[in-house]
Amino acid sequence: MSGRIPRSFIDDLLNRVDIVEVIDSRVPLKKKGREYWACCPFHGEKTPSFSVSASKQFYHCFGCQKSGNAVGFLMDYDHMEFVEAIEALAQSLAIDVPYELGSGPARPAQGLEAMYQAMEQSSQFFQAQLKQAPATIEYLKNRGINGQTARDFAIGYAPPGWSNLKGDEKLLVETGMLVKKEDGKQYDRFRHRLMFPIRDRRGRTIAFGGRVIDPEDNPKYLNSPESPLFHKSDEIYGLYELKKAVTNIDRIFITEGYMDVVALAEHGVKTAVATLGTAINNRQIESLFRVCKNLVFCFDGDAAGKKAAWRSLEQCLVSLKEGRLARFLFLPEGQDPDSYISEFGEQDFNQQVEQASTLTSYLFDSLLAECNIRSLEGRAQFLDRLRPYFTQIPLQSLKDQILAEVERRLGQQIDGRMLRLLGEDKPVKTTPGKLPEQHWTSTRLAINLLLRKPVLGSSTGTHNELADSGIPGVDLLLKILDIIHEEPGISTQNLLDRFRGDDHEGHIYKLAAMEPPVENDESLERMFADCLQSLQKQYIHHRQRQLIAKLQSGEALSEPEKQEHRKLFTNNN
Ligand code: UTP
Ligand code: MN
Repeated sequence: MSGRIPRSFIDDLLNRVDIVEVIDSRVPLKKKGREYWACCPFHGEKTPSFSVSASKQFYHCFGCQKSGNAVGFLMDYDHMEFVEAIEALAQSLAIDVPYELGSGPARPAQGLEAMYQAMEQSSQFFQAQLKQAPATIEYLKNRGINGQTARDFAIGYAPPGWSNLKGDEKLLVETGMLVKKEDGKQYDRFRHRLMFPIRDRRGRTIAFGGRVIDPEDNPKYLNSPESPLFHKSDEIYGLYELKKAVTNIDRIFITEGYMDVVALAEHGVKTAVATLGTAINNRQIESLFRVCKNLVFCFDGDAAGKKAAWRSLEQCLVSLKEGRLARFLFLPEGQDPDSYISEFGEQDFNQQVEQASTLTSYLFDSLLAECNIRSLEGRAQFLDRLRPYFTQIPLQSLKDQILAEVERRLGQQIDGRMLRLLGEDKPVKTTPGKLPEQHWTSTRLAINLLLRKPVLGSSTGTHNELADSGIPGVDLLLKILDIIHEEPGISTQNLLDRFRGDDHEGHIYKLAAMEPPVENDESLERMFADCLQSLQKQYIHHRQRQLIAKLQSGEALSEPEKQEHRKLFTNNN
C-alpha cells in the first residue's frame, strides 16, 4: 500500500544518509581537496571529473554536467523509480518509509503499484492457461524445454480469443495488455501465443514477449509496448532469473533472444541474458558489468550477427575499466545459442566459448580485414581507423595492450608518427579537483553562497524589487531566498531537493558545484552582503536607465516614478 511520501520524511532522510557512502559503495571515490572524485559513471572518461561533495551532499560531473543528490544518484545509476530510491535509502538506515494515505501530488506511486499487480495477475493467468494447453506444452517439449525451466522463467500461454484477460481495464490498457481501438473498443493484445514475462531487477513483471505457436502467424514475437513500467532499452531479459539461480556468477552470456536464454538455462548454462529485440546500449552493458566483470557476447555467424557484434563492441569500449573483460562468440552461420546448445550440448558450447575472440582480437581482425598493411598507406589507414575506438578506452593498461598488439600485427615498433595517427600526440591531462574556468557574477556567487550556507539568506530582506531588474539569474536567487525565509534552518541538501524536477534543477547543481574564492565562514558572510549590494546597485542603474529613457522619449513620469527618480538620483551615484 503506498501513497504520498511526506516532504518532512524526505528531508530527514536526505539529512541522515551520506551521499559519499552511497556512491562510494557503487563507484569507488578518492578524496582530493574538499571533495571526493571518480571517473564519471555516466559518461566515459579517463580522468576524474565526477565530484561528490560531503558538505553539500550532492554529486556533479564537470564533464557531462550530470548532477543530483543521493536519491537522484540511485535513480540514474541503479535505474530506480523515485519511490524505490527513497525505499532503498530508508532501508540502508533501517527505517520505514511512511506513506500518507489519500490523494496528493505523488500519487503515481500508487498507480505504479496497481500496474505491477495487474501485470503479475496477467502472468499468473498465462501460466495457469499453459497447464491447460497440451499442444503448447508439446511445442515447448519439442523445443527441449521442460517444466522446471518453464516455471523458472514463468513461461505462460495466452489463449486464442479477444477478451480473456480480466482485471481493471484502465490498468490493462496502460500496461499494453489490452489494445484500445479508436472506436473505444478494447481487445487482448496477446492471443494464442507462448508468453515470456519480462521481469525487472526486483522480479516484478513489467512486460511480455509473446511468440507465435503457428508458424504462419506473425509477427513471430510480439512485445509489450513502452509503458510507465517498461522501457525496453533499459531492460535485460533474464537478469532477474540469473541472479536468482546463480550466486557465483563467473560470466554472463549476452544473446539476442528469449529462447536463447531459456534454452541455455535448460542445458545448464544459467547465466545468459538477452536484449529485447533491440541493439544493446552502453547503459545495459554497464549494468551487466556491475553484476559480473566477464561478458561473452554471442552472435550468429551471419552478416546480421556481425553487424550486431560490431555495434556491441562500440557500446562496450567506454566501459572497459579495470578487470572487465568482453569477448565475442561467433556461432556457425545459421546457428543461435538455442539451436547450437540443443544440437551439440553444454560441453561443446563451453568449448566454443573458450575459442571466443577477445575484444582486442575481434577489433584487430575486423579492421585489418579492410586494410592492406603491407603498404605504408594501408598501415596509416589502419591506424586511422583504429583511432576512434582506441581513444574511447578509459583504461591505460588496456591501451598499452592494444599498442603492443599494433606492434605485433604490423611487425613494427610504435613510433611518434603512429601515436599521432592514434590520437595520442597531445595527451589531455586535467588534474582532478581543478575545475574548468568559471565565470562569476554577483547572482551566481550569491546563489552559490546560499547553497553552501543557507542561513546567510535568513536575515536579508526579500529583495522582491530585484524581480524586474532584468539581471540574469535573479529569479532563481529570489526563489531560493523565499524558501530560506520560509524555512530559516533548512539544510543545503533539503534546499537543493526543493528544486527536484524544476526547470532550474540542472543549473542550481552546477552553481552549487562552483568553488567560491573564500576561505572562512566570516568572509562568506561579507561576500554575500557584497553580492546583494552589487545587485542592488545594478538594479538602481537599471531603473535609472529606464526612467531616463522614458523622459528622453518625451513621456511624462507618473507621481511615484517622479519620487523614485528623485530618490535614485540623490542617494546613489
Ligand atoms: P529471432 O528471430 O532471432 O528469434 O529474434 P529467436 O530468438 O531465434 O526465437 P526462436 O528460436 O525462433 O523462437 C530474436 C529476438 O528478437 C526479437 C525478440 O526479442 C526475439 O527474442 N524479435 C524477433 C521481435 O521482437 N519480433 C520479431 O518478430 C522477431
Ligand atoms: Mn532461435
